[in-house]
Amino acid sequence: MTNQSAPLRAHVTGWGRYVPEQILTNADLEKMVDTNDEWIVSRTGIRERRVAAAHETTASMASVAALRAIRTAGLDPDDIDLILLATLTPDYWMPSTAALVKEAIGNQRAAAMDVAAACSGFVYAFSTAQAYVTSGLAKHVLVIGAELLTRFLDYTDRSTCILFGDGAGAVVVSASEEPGGSLGIELTTEPQGAYMIWLPAGGAKSPPSRETVARGEHYIRMEGRETYRFATRTLASTALESVRKAGLEASDVSLFIPHQANIRIIEAVAKGLDLPMDRMFVNLDRYGNTSAASVPIALAEAVNSGRVAIGDNICIVAFGAGFTSGAATIEWTADPARGIAGDAAVRASDIHVRLPLDWDSVDPIPPALAELMARDPLNVPLDDVVPGEPESAHREVHA
Ligand SMILES: CC(C)(COP(=O)(O)OP(=O)(O)OC[C@H]1O[C@@H](n2cnc3c(N)ncnc32)[C@H](O)[C@@H]1OP(=O)(O)O)[C@@H](O)C(=O)NCCC(=O)NCCS
Repeated sequence: MTNQSAPLRAHVTGWGRYVPEQILTNADLEKMVDTNDEWIVSRTGIRERRVAAAHETTASMASVAALRAIRTAGLDPDDIDLILLATLTPDYWMPSTAALVKEAIGNQRAAAMDVAAACSGFVYAFSTAQAYVTSGLAKHVLVIGAELLTRFLDYTDRSTCILFGDGAGAVVVSASEEPGGSLGIELTTEPQGAYMIWLPAGGAKSPPSRETVARGEHYIRMEGRETYRFATRTLASTALESVRKAGLEASDVSLFIPHQANIRIIEAVAKGLDLPMDRMFVNLDRYGNTSAASVPIALAEAVNSGRVAIGDNICIVAFGAGFTSGAATIEWTADPARGIAGDAAVRASDIHVRLPLDWDSVDPIPPALAELMARDPLNVPLDDVVPGEPESAHREVHA
C-alpha cells in the first residue's frame, strides 16, 4: 500500500524531440566563410547542424517535441499543469514562447512561462519543474528546450556561425511517491562572464535601430577562448556536485548527458570525472550546439537508442551564457521503449502555431542560407535520418 506521507518525487515520465530536416554541412559553411571541414571537426567535433525552414519557429519546433513527450508519458495535453520553455531565441519578446506552445498543443489549463538561462536553460527549467512537483504545486510539468539559433548568427563571423543549429527537446516531469527520479541538482551563475556570450542589441539597453542592425548587434557574439576555459573549468565540478547531492559517486552514473557544444569540452568533462568517453553521450556531430535544446534532444536520443535502462543513474549537465551552469542527477524510472512510440504518434505537419491576423512577418531566412534552403529538402542521405525518427513523419515535415 502506498504510504500517504511519503515525500513527492520528480520523475521523468515523457521525453521527445524534434529537429528540422534541412542539414547545413561543414562543406556548406566553407562556401560562406573562410573555414574548412578539417578545422571545424578537429576543433569542435561538429560535422553538420539543422536549419529550421521558413514556416518553422521556436514555438513550432517546441510544440512537436512537447507533444511527443506528452504522448510518451501516456498523457493528454490537458494533464499538464505548468509549461516551462527554456530558450534564448523566443518567437517574440512577448508573449512568452511557452504561451504559444500551450495553444499549439491544445492545453487549456496550464500556467506557461519562458526560462532565460541560455544553454543551461533546460537544466534551470528542469530544476524549477522539480521544485513545483515536489512541493505539490504541480502534478505534471512540461519542460522544453527549443532554439532557432540560425536566424541570430552572423554568417561573416567564422568563429560563431559554425557552432550552432536548430531544434527542440522536451520532457514531462511528474509527481510520484515512488523512489527514484531527480535526486540532486546543482546550479551556478558567474556574473563575471556576462559579456562573454551575448546579443548586444534589441533589448532595453540598446533598442533595435538602423544603426544597431548596421553594426550587426542583433547577432550572437562570443569570446570563444574564455567560454572554452569556463566550460572546461566548471562542467565537471557542477556535474560532480549534483552527483554528490544525489548521494552518489561519479562512477555510479552510467551515462552523462552533457551540453553538446564541443567534443573537446566533453572530453575534458570525462577526464575531470575520471571516466571513459563511453559514459558521455555525444550527438553534436549531427546537430552542433542547439543551446537550451541540446540536453533534451540528447536525452531523448540516448533513451531511444537504448543507452538508458530503468534503475540507471544519469546526469544531465550544461553551461552557457551568464556564465551559467547546471546539472541534475536522475534515477531513470520510465520504460525506455515508450519514446519511439511517442515520437511516432505526433507528426510535425499536424502542429500549427497561430499567427495574428493581418500581420506578415518578413522572410525569416538569413540571406546567407537562402540558397541552401532552396535545395531539395528530401534529398537527405538515409544515415542522416535521426535515429528513432519515424521515416514517414520525417518525409512529411516538408511535404
Ligand atoms: C570557438 C572555438 C571552437 C575556437 O577554437 P579555438 O581552438 O579556441 O580557436 P581560437 O579561437 O584560438 O582560434 C585559432 C585560430 O583559428 C581561427 N579560426 C576561428 N574560427 C575558425 C574557423 N571556423 N575556421 C578556421 N579557422 C578559424 C582563428 O581566427 C585563429 O586564427 P589565428 O590564430 O590566425 O588568430 C573554441 O574556442 C570553443 O569551442 N569555445 C567554446 C565555445 C562554446 O562552447 N560556445 C557555446 C557556449 S554555450
